[in-house]
Amino acid sequence: MLHIRELSLAFGKGAVPVLEGLSLDLQAGEFMSLIGPSGCGKSTLLRAITGLQKPSAGAVSLDVSPDEVAFLFQDDALLPWRSVRDNVALGLRNRGTRKAQARREADGWLAAVGLEGYGDRWPRQLSGGQRKRVAIAQCLALRPRVLLMDEPFASLDAIVRHYLTEDLMSWVERENLTVLMVTHDLEEAIALSDRVLLMGNGPRARIKGHFQVPLSRPRDLVGVRTEPAFRDLARDLWSALSEEVGPMSSTRPDLKVVNE
Ligand SMILES: Nc1ncnc2c1ncn2[C@@H]1O[C@H](COP(=O)(O)OP(=O)(O)O)[C@@H](O)[C@H]1O
Ligand SMILES: [Mg+2]
Repeated sequence: MLHIRELSLAFGKGAVPVLEGLSLDLQAGEFMSLIGPSGCGKSTLLRAITGLQKPSAGAVSLDVSPDEVAFLFQDDALLPWRSVRDNVALGLRNRGTRKAQARREADGWLAAVGLEGYGDRWPRQLSGGQRKRVAIAQCLALRPRVLLMDEPFASLDAIVRHYLTEDLMSWVERENLTVLMVTHDLEEAIALSDRVLLMGNGPRARIKGHFQVPLSRPRDLVGVRTEPAFRDLARDLWSALSEEVGPMSSTRPDLKVVNE
């Protein structure tokens, strides 16, 4: 579904490339997570996929049109001067849907993410978790086939995060979405994914390891964490990542340190 070939990316001519010779393939319907040391270039890679950042070399190709790709970022991009309904309707409006129709559809998506009746509110009147739900509604309204997420739940508390993740996963399963998610949470990566990719330390970062998650989907996101296969993989991933970061490295892992 997504193919990245020998991608290199430097910020400015003559600068040391952040990414170099990075390749990966994402299969249709696959949920893939990307973990790696802080600052290694994960967000840069996502921006290269979305076309926001131009690669210095290599190629990114998608089997679907760019219209079918949605992004969910850590900090939502809700416009403070538009109502919640109009924020959700915005993407539809940009695609040429008429105002009344876009608003009707927006209300439908708000209801679908548990925010029925919130359409007339302003973004500032919502909690962090509710704002994230609006951002999810914005994404889903575009009927994407591919979802790119950059630490989408990092700023939320554990309970809100749990319910949001469960809801999002039910959409992922229902719509058979192909997902690439950057996360700093190793256990979240395993719990949600079919495959976890470990990105090496930068500069000149590339993919250092592929870890297949030997658990079928859909999963019970709480129960799965007690499965022996889950624990084994968490241990393997943690040791691969520690190797990448190194005990005396100046780069801190942006990970939940389970054994500290
Ligand atoms: N716009 C930019 N200009 C120059 N350097 C950048 C820019 N964006 C990111 N970088 C650098 O690229 C590297 C990777 O950043 P980033 O992709 O944000 O890492 P990650 O998401 O893995 O934490 C970092 O060293 C960062 O300082
Ligand atoms: Mg980042």
